[in-house]
Amino acid sequence: MKKLLTAVCLFLAACATEVRQSAVPADSSLGGRLAYRYESSDMCRGCHAEIYEQYKDSMHARAFSNPLFNAQYFKEVVPRAKRDPKFAAEARKCVYCHAPALFMSYSGMIETPEQAARYETGVTCDFCHTLSGYAENGDYLQNPSGKKQGPLKSTSSHHAEYSGFLQVAEYCGSCHNATNHAGLEVKSTYKEWRESSYGKSGNVCQECHMNKYGYLRDGAAEFNKGKAAHINIGYGDTEQKTHEKLYSHAFPGAHSAAQLEDALQLEFKIGRRNADAQSKFPFVLHVNNSRSGHKMPTGSSDLRLLWLAVTAATDDGTRFPVILHSRRIAGAADYSVAGASSDDATVLGADVPAGSRLYRSVFVDGKGRQTLFQYDSVKNVFDNRLNAAEVRSEMYDVLLPKGFSGQITLTATLNYLAAPSSVTRRQKVADFKPVVISTQQKRITLVPHLTE
Ligand code: HEC
Ligand code: HEC
Ligand code: HEC
Ligand code: HEC
Ligand code: HEC
Repeated sequence: MKKLLTAVCLFLAACATEVRQSAVPADSSLGGRLAYRYESSDMCRGCHAEIYEQYKDSMHARAFSNPLFNAQYFKEVVPRAKRDPKFAAEARKCVYCHAPALFMSYSGMIETPEQAARYETGVTCDFCHTLSGYAENGDYLQNPSGKKQGPLKSTSSHHAEYSGFLQVAEYCGSCHNATNHAGLEVKSTYKEWRESSYGKSGNVCQECHMNKYGYLRDGAAEFNKGKAAHINIGYGDTEQKTHEKLYSHAFPGAHSAAQLEDALQLEFKIGRRNADAQSKFPFVLHVNNSRSGHKMPTGSSDLRLLWLAVTAATDDGTRFPVILHSRRIAGAADYSVAGASSDDATVLGADVPAGSRLYRSVFVDGKGRQTLFQYDSVKNVFDNRLNAAEVRSEMYDVLLPKGFSGQITLTATLNYLAAPSSVTRRQKVADFKPVVISTQQKRITLVPHLTE
């Protein structure tokens, strides 16, 4: 089989020419970069019905049509690219990852939803199964030969062939790591993974994200088993194998409550049982990110918010102030506490209660203002996200009335929001709902301080 390795490097004119000058003539119907006409995911459905069912509601299928992307792209990115030719490369890059088969099939810039409707958008079956190699910085290598690349060494199907590339993290890294037009790394999931204990021990993305649940349960990956296709007329053996390991295509992530719930664990660490002379009761809270193979939040970390809220109350409902020990560095803005930075009022609005510990990555625009828009970002000024497998300790004090004794209940809640309403309202799309990832309670009996 003639291999046609086509490196697509958007910002390198030389590479772009290489694609256009490839041996195969351009697709006349769309004037595309490639002659190969990607097959539609609907076509695969006929034989791979189960995989299609998992895929159809995934964010890969909806990567272009999802309301937030769609609004950002058509309402902000395209108009700006028309005004500013320097921004056009950034706009093309959006399509490059969010509708790669469309990008490869259409050499112009997608400016209207009607143009996009001429080809299948999203990250399609055929696009993923013709990826052949990794190039840094959100570039990918395509082998659009018609033979589907797959992991099943056993298959005798003549429409597919074995490829080990689908089983490595770099495969996902092709799109899950990205640099914007300002040269700033705005997505770093692949690199975060590579530097984590999971990356070092070779536990790849597929092992977590494509198992039956989308994450490890008690540290183990459980896979579905069965047939990879239900119809094989003219495509394979007459008797198809039952595979011990089938990879799920649901890819749950930031939009799946099931994926997020229990993704992190909370644990109170209580030392002394008595309030000190100042009537302060100190305690430590452990936030455990051992289930993620990368930082949390990851991916569109410009948008995602993760925060910890802690309360202390008596049985009759009297609440006491809970004070978080600040990690403020003198002279620097404290982005780790909601409400502490001057931009928080507009950026976070009322979504995150003031005083909560926030885990986030903060980007600023050319004017030095905090921004949640990756294409406006020029610099990362803060990043206190939880590392893969990290257990972070947070220190708190409950302020009690002098001489207090009795029982109090501490409640800690870890919350997640895919994007705050400052983003969804600017784009005029429905607000995201916050998800409670984890909640933990601890009852404590306080005895009067002995020296009092
Ligand atoms: C985001 C990329 C991506 C998309 C989209 C995608 N696949 Fe896959 N697919 C993979 C990867 C990666 C594997 C192999 C994982 C491994 O072995 O580690 C795989 C495995 C498979 C297999 C082998 C059997 C199995 O389940 O392990 C088949 C068949 C398959 N995909 C068909 C499809 C079809 C049909 C669609 C669309 C309905 C689709 N894929 C969409 C990446 C993708
Ligand atoms: C007419 C039925 C049919 C259609 C349509 C079809 N496939 Fe398949 N495909 C099969 C059969 C049969 C196998 C072999 C399954 C096995 O070995 O258990 C297979 C295997 C695969 C494999 C695994 C290859 C390997 O060696 O690991 C991939 C990937 C794949 N198909 C992707 C696709 C994609 C993508 C589409 C749509 C563009 C598609 N298929 C359309 C029948 C079909
Ligand atoms: C061709 C590019 C591409 C490849 C390859 C790819 N992805 Fe994605 N992936 C995307 C895009 C684009 C989205 C975002 C869709 C959106 O939210 O608009 C996405 C979304 C996801 C999500 C859902 C996140 C959420 O916000 O809910 C997960 C999980 C995911 N990908 C994991 C993987 C894994 C694991 C692999 C490798 C097996 C992979 N992806 C390969 C482009 C890709
Ligand atoms: C040890 C298991 C594990 C590994 C390995 C892993 N992930 Fe994840 N991933 C998770 C869990 C659990 C979540 C949900 C909690 C979170 O967001 O961290 C998640 C979330 C995500 C999200 C959604 C994040 C968001 O907030 O939008 C994406 C995208 C993603 N992973 C991609 C990847 C990619 C790409 C790789 C490989 C480079 C990878 N993951 C490796 C477990 C894993
Ligand atoms: C290198 C590939 C790549 C490029 C280029 C890219 N994206 Fe993405 N985008 C992704 C991936 C992967 C995700 C999923 C990450 C996650 O789930 O957190 C994503 C997620 C998003 C989301 C979050 C959607 C949601 O509902 O959570 C938005 C919005 C978005 N991208 C907009 C854009 C825009 C606008 C552009 C162009 C200016 C762009 N992206 C360029 C890969 C890319």
